[in-house]
Amino acid sequence: MVQSASPAYAVGDKVWGMGPLFQYRDLRADGADQPGGMPPMKAMPGVPAETLLSVVTASAGITAYCAVEHHPCGQVEAPFADKTILVTSAAGAVGLIAGQLYKLKGCKVIGVTSSREKADRLERFGGYDHVIAYRTENLDERLNALAPEGLDVFIDNVGAEQLDAGARHMKIGGRILSVGAIGEMDAMVSGKLHGFREYLRVPAKELTFGGFLMYNHFRRIPGAAAALIGLLTEGKLKSEETVLHGGFDDWAACVDKLYDSQTFGRMILALDGNGLAIAS
Ligand SMILES: NC(=O)c1ccc[n+]([C@@H]2O[C@H](COP(=O)([O-])OP(=O)(O)OC[C@H]3O[C@@H](n4cnc5c(N)ncnc54)[C@H](OP(=O)(O)O)[C@@H]3O)[C@@H](O)[C@H]2O)c1
Repeated sequence: MVQSASPAYAVGDKVWGMGPLFQYRDLRADGADQPGGMPPMKAMPGVPAETLLSVVTASAGITAYCAVEHHPCGQVEAPFADKTILVTSAAGAVGLIAGQLYKLKGCKVIGVTSSREKADRLERFGGYDHVIAYRTENLDERLNALAPEGLDVFIDNVGAEQLDAGARHMKIGGRILSVGAIGEMDAMVSGKLHGFREYLRVPAKELTFGGFLMYNHFRRIPGAAAALIGLLTEGKLKSEETVLHGGFDDWAACVDKLYDSQTFGRMILALDGNGLAIAS
């Protein structure tokens, strides 16, 4: 905060909110210019700014929270120990939090990420009982071995082949929630989408296929933020980030890292000590 007309904020406060990449920006103290009407949040003692940016942020932790806690396709009911969940891009910003939220309930949680090295790191990090490395392991074989009972809920951040593979392993009445399609990014430009080829599993197994878009859940942001901050301060939830130090010119390098599987958790651009920005 470099200038303030509100008694709620002092010069020097570190605050965060949502918006495009900017160097200076006017923020309203009443939050009327923020999603969900949430006033700019201040740094919390004992919680690193990077953690707040990955967990208590609409496009990452709050997306995971709303998908898991509020969306009919992401919610699970007791008995939780009987529920098996699959999350793709499990080591990503959304996946890291979604996995932990399901694990906290007591579900069996399986993740998918690129390399075995990253999969081992994610298993050590927590939130996932098993992690499949899609570059070297066959998804169908691994899912047959790890979840012969089938999947109750599948949170898909990737689309394409991984969406198809997950769909082949759903239980009757299972639910698929499409949150993202990072595996289709190039195809969105070329127009050659892989698409959802296993859609006949939807009638064959009476699956429910849903979509999630954070913009439709803005009213839930204050509640989700409070719940996530509670879990963080109780030590029940943790985060990790990939931080690149640089300037605005390094933005493209951050985006490249996202598409080259070089990130673990949220990708953050730290602007030479002046503040933090998020690449997503
Ligand atoms: N619907 C919404 O409201 C909403 C909100 C936030 C985010 N999203 C979407 O949800 C997804 C997850 O978001 P995020 O911020 O958490 O991103 P992310 O998962 O952190 O994205 C980066 C990771 O994606 C994986 N990846 C990159 N290219 C891939 C490919 N071709 N195939 C498979 N995996 C690939 C890489 O991990 P690996 O090592 O696993 O390959 C990379 O480290 C994204 O698609 C994002 O656009 C949607």
